Amino acid sequence: MILDIINKKRLGKELSYQELDTIFNGYLNGEVADYQMSALLMAICINGMSDEETFALTKIFIDSGDILDFSDLPGIKVDKHSTGGIGDKTTLVIVPIVAACGGTVVKMSGRGLGYTGGTIDKLESIPGYRIDLTEGEIMKQVYNIGLVVTGQTADLVPMDKVVYALRDVSSTVSSVPLIASSIMSKKIACGADKIIIDIKVGNGALIQTKEEAKKLSELMIRIGEFYNREVRTVISDMNTPLGITVGNSLEVLEAIDVLKGREKNNPFVDLCIELASEMVSMSLEIPVKEAKEKVLQVIEDRSAYHKFEEMVASQKGHLDKIKVSDKTYFIRSPQAGVIKRINALAIGKLVFQLGASKEEMDDKIDFTVGVKLNKLVGDSVKKGEVIATIFYKKKVPEIKIENIYTFE
Ligand code: URA
Repeated sequence: MILDIINKKRLGKELSYQELDTIFNGYLNGEVADYQMSALLMAICINGMSDEETFALTKIFIDSGDILDFSDLPGIKVDKHSTGGIGDKTTLVIVPIVAACGGTVVKMSGRGLGYTGGTIDKLESIPGYRIDLTEGEIMKQVYNIGLVVTGQTADLVPMDKVVYALRDVSSTVSSVPLIASSIMSKKIACGADKIIIDIKVGNGALIQTKEEAKKLSELMIRIGEFYNREVRTVISDMNTPLGITVGNSLEVLEAIDVLKGREKNNPFVDLCIELASEMVSMSLEIPVKEAKEKVLQVIEDRSAYHKFEEMVASQKGHLDKIKVSDKTYFIRSPQAGVIKRINALAIGKLVFQLGASKEEMDDKIDFTVGVKLNKLVGDSVKKGEVIATIFYKKKVPEIKIENIYTFE
């Protein structure tokens, strides 16, 4: 039976709900072997899935665990997801902005995968910050202050945890229907009324081309329609790291600067404003233009930053205790010119080598290490000028500047 299902997909045929249920639940229960599931996943990567198969798989994923219900909380609950990137700290900025504008946000975030960082790792760099709130604690906090960012509860879409781990080691992550059902099942199981997805495209992202990103966007919108959830998407660049820092504590400090209005007019701030405006528009059911005015206002009057402080205090974090390593190494420009490109993947690998994310499940993250980009794409530099600062703990990895920077 299992072999028939794998063979059917290998031949590019459509699987029924029952067939998908048999093999995926069989895998979750340990009755289907890793090698059989890997073969099916590879056949899906190569032959794709119809919308009906993708909707069915999304349901099988959702039904594998708890389905949270926040319908007792006031307001429309808008959730946000990013397909992952280097230096992506947008959640830390936009959730407090949306809450300060009067929206309600229940956000369950994940850990880093490979070279891409995770919001939960970043938040854990705030000493004391609790990422393990119970459903009751989440309800209470959202009721009191309108926002929460916490880790996923243990039993949320357990199917995704096991299938994702296998996809990660069998080169089957980059499949549009598998990515869409993985993300959408988690968002729906989390109780979101409306969802915004930031689809990253570029060498530091899962999705490498705009065409693929468009396909993913359209599929997630169709899954949303099927499940009666409004889904909006933003497609954003991930060839260059997002913002000026990569590394957990450094990124929290950068997010605070953006919330305090100290950083303006860079692509990261622009993306935060775009995403926050869409979320406020969805949450308050107002036009995006009006939402954007509110977003700029709550940054200007610091109410977004105060929401962030309220959330951190409510989750027992101590912002005054965030630490960045005091050991620094400067990368200097090898030539005079204008920075044409900063390779996101190369920066991701460098920060990974510094110890900012896990290689194995049991590894410990060093929250204090990372990279600060002193100069950004488009900046003119002199020969020998500091273009980036590395914050390290043990030793600085070998750095090939030509792999990171392109000048013109
Ligand atoms: N993020 C997810 O949660 N799932 C995927 O499959 C890819 C990115």
